[in-house]
Amino acid sequence: MLIRFKKNMEKIAMGLLSFMPDEKKDVKKLQQTIKEYETNPDWHLFLWKEDDVLGAIGVRIEDNVDVVIQHVSVNPSHRNMGIGKKMINEINRQYQDKYTVNASEEVQEFYQKCNSKHDQNENSNKK
Ligand SMILES: CC(C)(COP(=O)(O)OP(=O)(O)OC[C@H]1O[C@@H](n2cnc3c(N)ncnc32)[C@H](O)[C@@H]1OP(=O)(O)O)[C@@H](O)C(=O)NCCC(=O)NCCS
Repeated sequence: MLIRFKKNMEKIAMGLLSFMPDEKKDVKKLQQTIKEYETNPDWHLFLWKEDDVLGAIGVRIEDNVDVVIQHVSVNPSHRNMGIGKKMINEINRQYQDKYTVNASEEVQEFYQKCNSKHDQNENSNKK
């Protein structure tokens, strides 16, 4: 299930966000990103928790109108099992009534894939 990030989950969240291509080689940037999620009311970070925390997804609200999914990351040992897609679906579900949900350039391709009809059918058989 998707849970809201709290400060005591900082380490695990940073570990997951470090897989984002844009954050990878830059610890300073990663620290700034986490800080923004902790302090900026328009930045919302969530973690995907089963027995362990396996994924992270982060959005920013723009002009109180748009929700931009800007970070999506899954623990490498748990990829290709549908967790990324479940997180995208959950964000769509939580925000789409009030906002227009979209994705940043970095996340766009995966976001489109998750929203494509063909893929939704495919993944529903996947579990
Ligand atoms: C991208 C990422 C979040 C996907 O998570 P996941 O849990 O493995 O994804 P799912 O199992 O829900 O979906 C897997 C499907 O998405 C596809 N996919 C993976 N990364 C993709 C991408 N960047 N663009 C488009 N499709 C992608 C896979 O090929 C797979 O397709 P298939 O079902 O047809 O075989 C994960 O690979 C990751 O953490 N990558 C590192 C972080 C990153 O690069 N983030 C930026 C892109 S979102």
